[in-house]
Amino acid sequence: MQQIVHDPDRMRALVVEARAAGRRVGFVPTMGALHAGHVSLVTRAARDCDDVAVSIFVNPTQFGPQEDFARYPRTLAADTAQLAPHGVKWIYAPEVSAVYLPGDATRIVVGGPAVRFEGERRPGHFDGVATVVCKLFQAVPADAAYFGAKDWQQTLVVRRMVYDLGLPIEIVVCPTVREADGLAMSSRNAYLSAADRPRAAAISESLRQAEQLWAAGAAAAAIEETMRKTMEAHGIVVDYAALADPESLEPLTADASRAVALVAGRLGSTRLIDNRELRGRGTSEPRSTPDQGLAR
Ligand code: PAF
Repeated sequence: MQQIVHDPDRMRALVVEARAAGRRVGFVPTMGALHAGHVSLVTRAARDCDDVAVSIFVNPTQFGPQEDFARYPRTLAADTAQLAPHGVKWIYAPEVSAVYLPGDATRIVVGGPAVRFEGERRPGHFDGVATVVCKLFQAVPADAAYFGAKDWQQTLVVRRMVYDLGLPIEIVVCPTVREADGLAMSSRNAYLSAADRPRAAAISESLRQAEQLWAAGAAAAAIEETMRKTMEAHGIVVDYAALADPESLEPLTADASRAVALVAGRLGSTRLIDNRELRGRGTSEPRSTPDQGLAR
């Protein structure tokens, strides 16, 4: 039986009590509008842990002034129903005023992997993510937290913050879940019009091409050009289509054997991101993995 908890202190007490009783607690932070990608994180957490907490909180500080905070789907009843068969013990759904207290004036500022790509296009976004994730970890002091590789840069930012602040929580990154045509599952896919939905598959197709070209030894610039052209041919307005170091997100060195291909683009008013880790340089055997470094 899952319990909905709104109060951060109550939430913390429940997790502390469970851990004191020797139970391993897993935590899946979300903004709700749950889909199969979230369910896969919950399933993994339930496999690894005795108790699972899922947070549902649309975090205002990670949205820019022109972004979709107001229209972001808020579907708590449907989310609760969707989680019911998956062994979730607690759904933590705080009010904004319980997370950001009156007079709130404190942010975590992240550098390093937060600087490029989404960090450039969405100023302040990762400071908002890091701040809320840190606050969520205070309320849900779990053994491990589960994030999707779909938000590759976010996973690096969270790992960096956890490492730098010495937060006592393990970060587990799980594979991206995709629709049948390859589109990465995202709550924002619901915004796509019927005409744009099939075009969105060009995003993952561009990444598949990147993987093949990387394995064949193609130059990074040529791979980036191919990704961009594939997306543009399907009407996607490309924000970026780039290869980078998979851990630092710095530009690749000439002899790099691993990379991550990162893409962001718009279809109508919907902005989508996706990525693929590239290994097996020059082996003609492309291989992807969601695992990332920065172990403590
Ligand atoms: O990935 C998300 O859903 C959000 O960025 C997160 C990690 C829940 C923080 O609000």
